[in-house]
Amino acid sequence: MKPRISVFVATSLDGYIARPDGGVEWLDVPPPSPTEDYGFQGFFETVDTLVMGRHTFEKVLSFDPWPYARKPVIVLSRRVVEIPAHLQHCVTASSENPAELASRLWVEGRRHLYVDGGITIQGFLAAGLVDELTITRIPILLGGGVPLFGALLQDVPLTLQFSRSFANGLVQTRYRVSLR
Ligand SMILES: NC(=O)c1ccc[n+]([C@@H]2O[C@H](COP(=O)([O-])OP(=O)(O)OC[C@H]3O[C@@H](n4cnc5c(N)ncnc54)[C@H](OP(=O)(O)O)[C@@H]3O)[C@@H](O)[C@H]2O)c1
Repeated sequence: MKPRISVFVATSLDGYIARPDGGVEWLDVPPPSPTEDYGFQGFFETVDTLVMGRHTFEKVLSFDPWPYARKPVIVLSRRVVEIPAHLQHCVTASSENPAELASRLWVEGRRHLYVDGGITIQGFLAAGLVDELTITRIPILLGGGVPLFGALLQDVPLTLQFSRSFANGLVQTRYRVSLR
C-alpha cells in the first residue's frame, strides 16, 4: 500500500520547470493575479506531506516567508542536508528510494504526497508511483533549462481529467496516470 501521490507543477511551453541556472522568475510572466491561484491552495489542503528534491529545497529556502506553513516536508538527498533551525519542526531529510519512502509514509499514516522537483518527479514516475499530474503551462519558451520529464524505461499512459485556460494565457491540465 502507498499514499496517493500527486504532482502540481508549472512549466514553460517547452517543458522546463526552471532556467539552466535554476531561475524561476519567468513563472511570474504574466504577473501573478491577487485573486487566482490556479487551484493551488485547494490542492495543497488535500496533501499531508511534501516530498521535494534537494535542488528544489535550496530554491524554496530563498523564499521569504517559507511557503508551506507547518506542513511536513521531506527533502530527498544522498548527502547531508542542512535544515535551518526554524524549519526543523517540519522539515526532515531522507535518502530512501521512492518506493521505500512511499511504503514507510503509508505505514506512518500519510495518505497524500505532493512530490516536487524535476529529478524527483522523474524518479517517482519511473517507479510507477505517481497517481496524478497537474501541469500549468506558462506561455513562454525558454529554449533550455531544467526539464520536468526525462527518460523512462516504459511508457506512462495518461488519462486527461480536465484542461482549462485562464485569461492571462496559462493553460492547466490534470492527468491521472492510467493503470499499467
Ligand atoms: N516550475 C515549478 O513549478 C517548479 C517546481 C519545483 C521545482 N522547480 C525548480 O526546479 C529546480 C530543481 O529541480 P531539479 O530537477 O534540478 O531537482 P530536484 O528534484 O529538486 O532535486 C534533485 C536532487 O534531489 C535528490 N534526490 C532526488 N531523488 C532522490 C532519491 N530518491 N534519493 C536521494 N536523493 C534524491 C538528489 O539530491 P543530492 O544531489 O543531494 O543527492 C538530486 O540531485 C529548481 O530550480 C526549482 O526552483 C520548479
